[in-house]
Amino acid sequence: MPRPGYQKKCGVSHPLSRRTLLKSMLGVGLSLQFVGAAGGATEELRKTRPQAGDSLVFSLGDRQGQLITLQDLPLGGPPVIAYPLEPATQTVRDGSRLNRVLLVHLVPEDLTEPTRTVAAEGIVGYSAICTHTGCDVSGWKAETKHFVCPCHASEYDPKDRARIVGGPAPRPLAALPLQVVDGNVTVAGPFSGQVGASQK
Ligand code: FES
Repeated sequence: MPRPGYQKKCGVSHPLSRRTLLKSMLGVGLSLQFVGAAGGATEELRKTRPQAGDSLVFSLGDRQGQLITLQDLPLGGPPVIAYPLEPATQTVRDGSRLNRVLLVHLVPEDLTEPTRTVAAEGIVGYSAICTHTGCDVSGWKAETKHFVCPCHASEYDPKDRARIVGGPAPRPLAALPLQVVDGNVTVAGPFSGQVGASQK
C-alpha cells in the first residue's frame, strides 16, 4: 500500500510529482466548490416565495410532499396546508414558513367577484401566516367557513379575499392566485400582497 503522497511504479513507491498533487488538489477543490454552489442554489429555491407554474404539495401528514389534486380538497373544507414545489428541480419551497399556503375548496358561486379572479374551480389559496403576530392560521370554523388563528382568535373570510371578520389582525391574508392543470392545483402568480406579520 503506497504511503499518501506516493505512487507505485514497477513495485516501487515513488513520491507523486508536485504537479500531479497540485492537479488532484485543484480537482477536489473545484468539486467541493461545485457542490457548495449547487447546495446554495437549492437553499435559495427552498426559500423563494411561490412562483407561477409551481405545483402545490401537502406540507404535513402521511402524504407530505405529494401533489395536491382537485379531489384532495373536499368541497366546503376543511382547508389543507400546502407548500409550493418548484417543478424543474422538484424542490419543495419549505425553507421559509412564509411559503405555507392555506387551500380550501368552496362553492364558486359563494365567492365574491374579486376572489373569483384568484380562484380555480372554487379553490382559493392564501398565506397561512397570521398578519397579527405571525402564528399559523390553523383553525377552521365549518359553520361560517372562516379561517381562525388560534393565538388571538383573528378570523378571516376566504370567500372574500380573506377579509378580517374578527380579532386583532391588521390586514387580510395575502391571496395566492391558482389554476388547475391536469387535475393538479398549481400556482398562477405570486402572493397578491405582503405575507407574514413583520412586513408593513
Ligand atoms: S397571531 Fe393570529 S391573532 Fe394574533
